[in-house]
Amino acid sequence: MLKGKHIILGITGGIAAYKCATLTRLLVKAGAEVQVIMTPNAKQFIQPLTLSTLSGKPVISEFFTANTGQWNSHVDLGLWADALVIAPATASTIGKMANGVADNMLVTTYLSAKAPVFVAPAMDLDMMRHPSTVRNLDLLRSYGNHIIEPAEGELASHLIGKGRMEEPENIVKALEDFFKGQMDLQGKHVLITAGPTVEKIDPVRFISNFSSGKMGFALAGECCRRGAQVTLVAGPVSLKTPDSHIDRIDVTTAVEMHDAVMEALPQADAVILCAAVADYRVANVADTKIKREKTQNPVIELTPNPDIARAVGQAKRADQVTVGFALETDNEGANAQGKLERKNLNFIVMNSLRDPGAGFQVETNKVTIFTDKGEMIEGECKSKLDVACDIVDVLQKYLSEK
Ligand code: C5P
Repeated sequence: MLKGKHIILGITGGIAAYKCATLTRLLVKAGAEVQVIMTPNAKQFIQPLTLSTLSGKPVISEFFTANTGQWNSHVDLGLWADALVIAPATASTIGKMANGVADNMLVTTYLSAKAPVFVAPAMDLDMMRHPSTVRNLDLLRSYGNHIIEPAEGELASHLIGKGRMEEPENIVKALEDFFKGQMDLQGKHVLITAGPTVEKIDPVRFISNFSSGKMGFALAGECCRRGAQVTLVAGPVSLKTPDSHIDRIDVTTAVEMHDAVMEALPQADAVILCAAVADYRVANVADTKIKREKTQNPVIELTPNPDIARAVGQAKRADQVTVGFALETDNEGANAQGKLERKNLNFIVMNSLRDPGAGFQVETNKVTIFTDKGEMIEGECKSKLDVACDIVDVLQKYLSEK
């Protein structure tokens, strides 16, 4: 469950910090990538060197790395993380998290992170039951954070009661259980097209479009994160595959994309057609470079490309779910609904170039989903990663009904 997951382990200044060596070891053993962030006080309890050795990454503690002057971006760290684990979480850090006191790297990263947060408190029993701790933990729960309740037992003060940080094995188990619950596409195979296609005019020139592939790649990453087997058929893009478990097939032309999709289609439970496929290709591709001196007014003759979505719509079985995209500039709703029907899709994701945060090359998107059940789901302008989550939520519902 933790294989390939990016985990930030936030260590604060409590005696249970010594158990974080084991916790780091177990997380790495389970296949996670671990980035340790320590509060300044945590370093009194355990050496950063121990944790950087076990995690294989330099430990971050300050906003700047003293010897290089490098700024540690809490925003980038927050976005990198699939989960944040604060263990041990002292009363002080819990209070800072609850109230937004961002005076160290860990709390600042916590405030920037979008990933699920797990808090494993560790403190003396009286601190644990103080109304301020109880209230702060309730606040964290109200933010959607997961509290890994401390165990009862002998505490560092030799008093006996509730306040012992949960054992590293159980913290790892809590994470595994959480990610298992998120794997709602496990056992499903999702085929995704992404990016533009490129159609040659001559050996050096081509017809294409502005698609960056970001939306399709975000969808591939999200499906993979939720446990699906993903085949990503990508046109020429300069993007890294979001997860090494994704089976990526690189193609150039619409015909190549069509052939790759039709070959993979029988194994797919769902197909997301996100690529901006060129509608036409050049019928008279020149074998050699077209020369200005020889050809004054060259005529490029175009011939239609296969409509991959339509071909998929015709070939699809009743148990397969298909999703299309419609990028419109006018008459948005009617155009999108027309495509939903013509291409025999289960739902279509429409975006309009008239919306400032939507469309090619940008990091954000604003979409409206039209379903074959007559629903219209309007979304806010969000990052393409967040839009991908919303689209996959709708897809998952369709798959669960099949
Ligand atoms: O007809 P239009 O190109 O606007 O339809 C967009 C939808 O159809 C998208 O889902 C796109 O990926 C898909 N499509 C396709 N093959 C084409 C053209 C569009 O799969 N040749």
